[in-house]
Amino acid sequence: MSSLTVTNLFKSYGNVEILKDINLAIDSGEFVVFVGPSGCGKSTLLRCISGLETISSGTLAIDGQEVNDIAPSKRGIAMVFQSYALYPHMTVFDNMAYSLKLQHLPKEDIRAKVNAAAEKLQLTPYLDRHPRTLSGGQRQRVAIGRAIVRDPKVFLFDEPLSNLDAALRVATRLEIARLKASLPQTTMVYVTHDQVEAMTLADRIVVLNAGRIEQVGTPMELYDSPKSLFVAGFIGSPKMNFITGEQAAPFGAHTVGVRAEHLDISDSGPWSGTVIYSENLGSDSFIYIDIGATEPLVLRQNGKSSRTPGEVLRFGPQGQSFHCFDAQGQPLA
Ligand SMILES: Nc1ncnc2c1ncn2[C@@H]1O[C@H](COP(=O)(O)OP(=O)(O)OP(=O)(O)O)[C@@H](O)[C@H]1O
Ligand SMILES: [Mg+2]
Repeated sequence: MSSLTVTNLFKSYGNVEILKDINLAIDSGEFVVFVGPSGCGKSTLLRCISGLETISSGTLAIDGQEVNDIAPSKRGIAMVFQSYALYPHMTVFDNMAYSLKLQHLPKEDIRAKVNAAAEKLQLTPYLDRHPRTLSGGQRQRVAIGRAIVRDPKVFLFDEPLSNLDAALRVATRLEIARLKASLPQTTMVYVTHDQVEAMTLADRIVVLNAGRIEQVGTPMELYDSPKSLFVAGFIGSPKMNFITGEQAAPFGAHTVGVRAEHLDISDSGPWSGTVIYSENLGSDSFIYIDIGATEPLVLRQNGKSSRTPGEVLRFGPQGQSFHCFDAQGQPLA
């Protein structure tokens, strides 16, 4: 069991404040994903939790015990990075056994722990191989295995899949989902840029913006009820459409946000525009529409679209599936 509590955490480099009053309570066994624009402080927060960075003020606690002054190696935390940094001259087994050998654990215990981790990560057939003979996804799994054998209370991942190609990302994401299910007691904090990873892996997502927490919630809470224009625009792919100015006025809002899948072509719709192009993806299609704003709107249709560039369409949101924001980006009731 291992809850993680961050209270009033600030972190500065020199006189630049990077993290500003972070408060976060992560339950034992929870899988929490940090997302946010590049440079917003995701890695810094992860490194503060691990102890690789000192914090400027505030407290960090694991299971209710303050760990501010506890050395990183004594916090019961394991971290997996984007670059896996395996020892090239050692086999997969020896890479995974390395930290246990340093602890002078009995040989049989080491073997049992490494075998169990290899089993979890489907690495058993590769234990005698060297890292250079493995794919990127397999190497990243070895790096995860190296962390698992240490039996951490808290697992931290910093964009572990971002060096992998699309197919390997999907396969390794599924491995991580399995790992999560097989370690229900282990708390996991995971940083990613990938919407699908965030939406599918997270119990809760933390959206960071310029060193502050914007919103914390389950993936569907953030998707369905964003508490700011920032979160509305950040969560979801394609990005939520934002309609402003005169076209938002009938809604009594500064900005109306509608997701691509919630826009319907309809003669009674409040908006009209010209088709720029449509993308047919087979299962669905995206129609890009110029409504005289700087960015085109995106409308999603099931199946193939027969819309052609230059066609004028009238469209609007389905039912109540839209979000109204004021000029400050705050939601209107
Ligand atoms: N050692 C350091 N010294 C000074 N500034 C730093 C240091 N490490 C990070 N920063 C700054 O802190 C801010 C947050 O960096 P951080 O790496 O946490 O961002 P991030 O959210 O992980 O971004 P990305 O998505 O690009 O990985 C950035 O402006 C960065 O330049
Ligand atoms: Mg980072």
